Amino acid sequence: MSALLSLRDVWVEYGDKIVLEKVDLDVEAGSFVSIVGPSGAGKSSLLRLILGQEAPTRGAILLDGAPLLPECGPDRGVVFQRYSVFPHLSALRNVVFGLECAQAPLTARLFGSARAAALREATEMLQAVGLGDSLDLYPAQLSGGMQQRLAIAQALIKRPRILLLDEPFGALDPGIRADMHALITRLWRDYALTIVMVTHDIREAFTLGTRVLALDKRRHDPHAPHRFGATAVYDLPLRRDAPPRPADDVRKIEESQGHE
Ligand SMILES: Nc1ncnc2c1ncn2[C@@H]1O[C@H](COP(=O)(O)OP(=O)(O)O)[C@@H](O)[C@H]1O
Ligand SMILES: [Mg+2]
Repeated sequence: MSALLSLRDVWVEYGDKIVLEKVDLDVEAGSFVSIVGPSGAGKSSLLRLILGQEAPTRGAILLDGAPLLPECGPDRGVVFQRYSVFPHLSALRNVVFGLECAQAPLTARLFGSARAAALREATEMLQAVGLGDSLDLYPAQLSGGMQQRLAIAQALIKRPRILLLDEPFGALDPGIRADMHALITRLWRDYALTIVMVTHDIREAFTLGTRVLALDKRRHDPHAPHRFGATAVYDLPLRRDAPPRPADDVRKIEESQGHE
């Protein structure tokens, strides 16, 4: 089976600073890839590459075997740690706006039956993320967890095949985070998504992922820290239906990340 997404010898450099080097990665359709790594390792840069917001300085990225177009296509959606949903639009309008942009790129307005269909679809998506009772609320009236649910609805309304999550639950309280884990697992299955999620929470990476990838530098030059980039130093396949990973694996990654 060929991969949905492939990175081939991908490098990211900013001036003479090498951020990522020699990243080779095949992501199978339907997988849930968790990415961990120290701050500054290039995790967000990697997501920007996959999103098409940035091009690698070397190497190739293939989607379905074809080179990724240098733009954010509708097949990829993204949720950041703090997503700037539009503050002047209600939850429903925020999600409808995503459809309007996709279906009427010039005017961002839909009319008549197209608008009615968009409202229906957005309402269903908000119900799917647990905001069915909050359609008319504005972002300022929503809690942090609810705002992330809205951000997820906004990303999913465009029916992406690949959902990119950049520390999406990092700013949330632990109790809320558990609810979000259940939600994202359900959406991953219901919408047959392929998910690439960056997290600094290693246990979250193992709880949610079918695979955990650790980015870090293999080589260090103390006199020139910018000389070497990070790459995939661990790549552990997991089985979500299998018992949890032995504590050893978690510990091995935590050690490599400099955790106690
Ligand atoms: N546009 C840019 N110009 C210059 N340096 C950048 C740019 N974007 C990111 N970097 C640098 O690349 C490195 C990796 O950043 P990032 O991908 O945000 O790491 P992470 O998400 O793992 O914390 C950091 O050292 C950051 O300062
Ligand atoms: Mg980051």
